[in-house]
Amino acid sequence: MYSPSDDSYLIIDYLKNHITLTHFDSLKIENVNNILDMGTGSGIVAIFLLLVKKANPNFSANIYASDIDQNAIDSAKANEKCNRFNNQITFIQSDLFKSFPADLKHRFDIIFFNPPYLPSIVSDRNLERNNSQDYTWDGGEKGFEVILDFLKQARNFLRKEHKTRIYYVCSSKTNLQKLYERISQLGFKNTILKKTHIFFEDLFLNRSEIVS
Ligand SMILES: C[S@@+](CC[C@H](N)C(=O)[O-])C[C@H]1O[C@@H](n2cnc3c(N)ncnc32)[C@H](O)[C@@H]1O
Repeated sequence: MYSPSDDSYLIIDYLKNHITLTHFDSLKIENVNNILDMGTGSGIVAIFLLLVKKANPNFSANIYASDIDQNAIDSAKANEKCNRFNNQITFIQSDLFKSFPADLKHRFDIIFFNPPYLPSIVSDRNLERNNSQDYTWDGGEKGFEVILDFLKQARNFLRKEHKTRIYYVCSSKTNLQKLYERISQLGFKNTILKKTHIFFEDLFLNRSEIVS
């Protein structure tokens, strides 16, 4: 399971400065009904959102959290309890959206994903991908395949009637120009919100919204 790290705090620090009594970043807070924390890991983002709900009477969104790894779901559930919240997060174990119930289609106003975003390690001998993929960091051969799969699938789970937002993290260890090009081809407008440097890479918090 992934312990909260610089990438997790990139999201939390941004939210601390961009949620007010009336607005969730650029969205009216009363229009935000359902939020998903994809790849929740320890549950840090979902639990932070519960804390915001507790402090803000205008914010009443349902919080969902999912992960491919059942151990991550179990520890996020335990962390929810440790923070004195009782079954307020709806957890879903799923590879991206594959096992999501159909009634969650076009339900989410906001989706977060701090994904695995580093390029796979390939064996020197035969350049084949290591079979034992580590879901916490392995983002695919180029490092951004999981992000692109996620964005392709996310479109079907975003609400249609209101403005919606996707927030995700990526790294300078991938070809960012190519990633942003592909995201634009998928019909999303991408905005870099925040950047942080850690010892071998830059991490970026991005916001994507559907334009076509
Ligand atoms: C970098 S960790 C982030 C964990 C947590 N959200 C945080 O910010 O600390 C990536 C998380 O995504 C999950 N994950 C990786 N691939 C996934 C997939 N295909 N579907 C759902 N979750 C996935 C991993 O199990 C891991 O918990």
